[in-house]
Formats: sequence, C-alpha cells, structure tokens
Amino acid sequence: MSRRRRKTGKNPYARPDRYTVLAKKEGFAARSVFKLDEIQRRYRVLRQGDRVVDLGCSPGSWSRFAHRIVGGTGQIVGVDIEPPADPVGEVLVESVFDLEPESLVEALGGPAGVVLSDMAPRTTGNVLGDHVRQIELVTRAMELARAVLRPGGNAVVKVFDGEDAHAFVQAQRPHFTKVKRARPEAVRRSSREFFLVCLGAKAP
Ligand SMILES: C[S@@+](CC[C@H](N)C(=O)[O-])C[C@H]1O[C@@H](n2cnc3c(N)ncnc32)[C@H](O)[C@@H]1O
Repeated sequence: MSRRRRKTGKNPYARPDRYTVLAKKEGFAARSVFKLDEIQRRYRVLRQGDRVVDLGCSPGSWSRFAHRIVGGTGQIVGVDIEPPADPVGEVLVESVFDLEPESLVEALGGPAGVVLSDMAPRTTGNVLGDHVRQIELVTRAMELARAVLRPGGNAVVKVFDGEDAHAFVQAQRPHFTKVKRARPEAVRRSSREFFLVCLGAKAP
C-alpha cells in the first residue's frame, strides 16, 4: 500500500508565515499590522498627537500600532462588531452602518487627524459577492472619514479589488490632495486586497 503524502502549501492560512510569527513576537494581535507599518513608512499617515479612528479594529493590531505612534497626546477610537481581544483606547462595539459621525467626533474629543479602515466582511469564497459587500463597507468608511476628518487629515482604507473598485477610487479623488493605491508586501499573494491611501483631506 502506497503511503499518502500530506498536502501542504495549498492553503496560505494553514501555517503561520513570517509576518504572523513576527507580529506575535512584537506584541501585536494580527499579522495585518505589517501592512499598516509599510504604509506608514512610505506615506507618514500617522503623526504624534493625532486623533485616530480605526474602523474594523478587532483583534486590535492596527490600533496598538497607531497608539505607539500618536503617543499619550493622541487619541484612538476603535469600531467593530466584534470586541477586540487587545483593546486600545475607546472602542465602540457596533456596525459602521449604525454609527453616526457625531459619536466618533465626541469619543475623539474633536475632529480626526486619521481614519483607518481594515474592514472586511466574512468572506464566502464567492469573489464577486465578497467584493460587492466589501465595497459597501469601504464606501461607508469613506463617508464617515469625510465627515470626521479635519482639513489636511489622512485616510487609509482596505479595498477588495474587482469591478466596482475603480469607480470607488475615482470617487475619493476630489476630496483629497493625493490618492494612492498601495499593496504592501504583507498582503498575501492570493488576496485581492489593496489599500487606498488618501492624503490631505480638503475642507467640505
Ligand atoms: C481584517 S479584520 C481587521 C484587523 C485589524 N485591522 C487588526 O489589525 O487587528 C476586519 C474586521 O472588520 C470587522 N467588520 C466587518 N464588518 C464590520 C462592520 N459592519 N462594522 C464594523 N466592523 C466590521 C470585522 O469584525 C473584523 O474584525
């Protein structure tokens, strides 16, 4: 009887990769922190003293990373439907579709300097369906961002690429001085995600 070989290398989530190992070692709850880290090194979106909104903040690595940069004079408010395992600052446990911009500004103590969104729906494997639901999430993220950002503020949002992504990107351009697409090294090869980096919010 021939011995069956165990299948390996098919599922990118099956075993911890170097970013997962490094995240744990550096005290972060998720490997996705390295996506924000690369964006920060390239665009300096976060600065000391900033008020930051982190949409889809669970389990908490982006908030913790942002906190290390903005320091004690800054402020972090996270939002998620799931409470984060590693909370930082104030957390509003609710859907972004139920959230009013005024609640964010009140929790922050003023307009935001930065809005982050790493939000993703529970994926189903249906690429088109996942794309459509993610575009709804990121569209809501940018509605909130435009309502709460101070002039000159920045936003970084995750987008699942697909047929509605181009129109979504174009719709953000008039509201910011610069809008860039970024695909950090830590994004898995099999993933359709990219990040939209929106710099210098224009006054409404
Ligand atoms: C990839 S995880 C974010 C990881 C996080 N940036 C970190 O580094 O720890 C995506 C998050 O989006 C959240 N999410 C999905 N739909 C949401 C909604 N309608 N409102 C708020 N959060 C949502 C999920 O619950 C999930 O925690």
